[in-house]
Amino acid sequence: MAILVTGGAGYIGGHMVLALLDAGEEVVVLDDLSTGFAWAVPKAAHLVVGDVADSAQWKEILAKHRIEAIAHFAAKIVVPDSVADPLGYYFSNTVKARALAEFAVRNGIKNFIFSSTAAVYGEPAVNPIFETAQPAPINPYGRSKLMVEWMLEDTAKVHSLSYVALRYFNVAGADPKGRLGQSTPNATHLIKVAVQAALGMRAGMDVFGTDYPTPDGTCVRDYIQVSDLIAAHLLALGHLRRGGESLVLNCGYGHGNSVREVIDVVKEISGNDFEVRLTGRRAGDPAALVAGAQAVRERLGWKPSYNDLAEIVRQAYRWERKLRDGTFARAR
Ligand code: UFG
Repeated sequence: MAILVTGGAGYIGGHMVLALLDAGEEVVVLDDLSTGFAWAVPKAAHLVVGDVADSAQWKEILAKHRIEAIAHFAAKIVVPDSVADPLGYYFSNTVKARALAEFAVRNGIKNFIFSSTAAVYGEPAVNPIFETAQPAPINPYGRSKLMVEWMLEDTAKVHSLSYVALRYFNVAGADPKGRLGQSTPNATHLIKVAVQAALGMRAGMDVFGTDYPTPDGTCVRDYIQVSDLIAAHLLALGHLRRGGESLVLNCGYGHGNSVREVIDVVKEISGNDFEVRLTGRRAGDPAALVAGAQAVRERLGWKPSYNDLAEIVRQAYRWERKLRDGTFARAR
């Protein structure tokens, strides 16, 4: 029996593929390579290049593999882009997930793991924020993902489909074995931008806002290391395989770091100073976003291994240097 990983050529999905293969699972990757890379998918996984909502692709996959579970990572993820192109985001993230859920139901695939996001909470009034809080997304990205959670909830009530929706906080770092990391060109994420500045790949960086109601005035986020995040997915798979109930769980460590703290750690780890420009707020940034992180530990027995910002930065830095120098290993 195989696990179908959509978006398995991307950053987070790619780490899922590595972890599943490490665990001896059979893996089928479905990815359109719009932001992912074929070289990131090990030969041990079956790579199907195509659209997650293309029923012809599904037929081909089902003719060759018995799919036991779907882990759905494929999505558009840039918040400002979602504001500029809401219909594109609702199509990619919501409409296509609906098609995939129907594919699961029609073909008796009972287990579904969904990549949700802390963006479903919008601007939380209190931190840490727990799963019991009322979702209130403030952009099309968060809404497009929340609608999928609702779709899965309604579908699980009437079909033999169970799901775990994992609400990711700020995913960062890279494979501790150095096989994979965040490779998207023009990435906008803080740690990636900062390590690129440290490596001289960009001329310094901007801090978006220094007047937030936080200890040092810059935004606070809960940075979760990518393999720790993926460990929660494997536990979710085990939970579903045992017939466990559907769950919606935050994925974070339960504590945060400010933008200034992150930049200081990047300077320290790299030993390189770089220009940091203090600029105005970026639209749509909540001041602080920290996970209420007990439920994932209690429900899935999750125990993080890399809960350390310096280690996360070290991994991101090492990967970025490999990418810059072209010294990373191509899986195919
Ligand atoms: N930041 C800077 N300078 C930069 C880049 C980021 O100051 O060059 C700041 C941002 O303003 C923010 C913090 O660093 O305060 C983190 O920003 P990221 O872009 O790294 O991450 P976000 O918190 O904006 O976004 C993340 C995920 C989204 C998800 C969101 C949930 O990347 O997919 O959390 O709120 F939707």
